[in-house]
Order: sequence, then C-alpha cells, then structure tokens
Amino acid sequence: MAVTGYLLLKGIHAGCALTSITLFIWRGLLWRRDPQSIRRGVLRWLPHLVDTLLLASALGLVTLGARNPLAEPWLAAKITALLGYIGLGLVAFRGGRRWAWYAAVALFAYIVAVAVTKDPLVLPTLSRRLA
Ligand code: HEM
Repeated sequence: MAVTGYLLLKGIHAGCALTSITLFIWRGLLWRRDPQSIRRGVLRWLPHLVDTLLLASALGLVTLGARNPLAEPWLAAKITALLGYIGLGLVAFRGGRRWAWYAAVALFAYIVAVAVTKDPLVLPTLSRRLA
C-alpha cells in the first residue's frame, strides 16, 4: 500500500513537471506576441497552482521516502535548480528578458536529467547506462 502511494505520488510529481514546462513554453510563445496575454484567464493562475503541486509532491516524496536532501547530492541539486528555474521565470516574464526564458528551459531539462539519473553531474551515469 505504501509503495503504491509512493508510486502514485511520483506519477503526480512527474505529471506536474510535464505540465509545468508545457505551460512555461506556451506562456513564452504567447508572451513574444503579446506580453499582456499571459496575465489573462487561465494562464494567470494555473502555472502557479501546478508549480505549487510540483513542489508539494516533491516534499511528499522526500518525506515518504525518508530522504535527506543534505545527504543526497542529486536532491540538493534539484532543489537548487528549482529555485533557479523559479527565479529565471520571474526575470523572463516580469523582467521581459528572453535569455532568461531559454536559460529556464535549459535548467528544467537539467532537473529532469538529474531526476532520472539521480546524479547531479548527469553525464557519468548517463554514459554508463548507455554503454
Ligand atoms: C522543476 C522541478 C522538478 C522536476 C522537473 C522534477 C522531475 C522529476 C521526475 C521526472 C521524476 C521521476 C524520475 C524517475 O522516476 O525516473 C522525479 C522524481 C523525484 N523527485 Fe523531482 N522534480 C522536480 C523537483 C523536485 C524537488 C525540488 C525535489 C526535492 C525536494 C524532488 C524530489 C524527487 C524525488 C524524491 C523523486 C522520486 C525518486 C525515486 O523514488 O525514484 N523533485 N522528479
């Protein structure tokens, strides 16, 4: 039962991650045409809800899995990179900087790579798996 709950939460977490980057890219494309468009309708609140769920599910996984982010470098790297992703999102959409949008998308890809390899350096584990 506990394992099922953990796997369900992991699925929710990964689903929130996919939704978060989809909304981020969508908002970036709309913003290029009309910066005000991302402050209207569903795009005004949905990204914040999804990112809150992403963070809450991350905290749930850490708690259920009895993990210590200070003892596991890949978790510490994810937390740090998530803060960077949030910060770059603010610079991109509130500050109107396109480079920050590209950097945030790249940082997101790094977070997913760290999640899958469980290695903050990514490449050593990836090349071992592909060998
Ligand atoms: C943008 C932010 C994040 C993204 C895109 C993301 C993405 C993912 C993905 C795709 C997985 C599934 C990996 C797999 O099973 O192969 C995962 C698992 C996990 N994530 Fe995240 N994550 C994010 C933030 C965080 C944060 C901040 C934490 C820690 C506080 C965290 C903790 C975990 C844990 C504990 C697992 C489960 C590991 C396991 O049992 O296999 N995530 N994440």
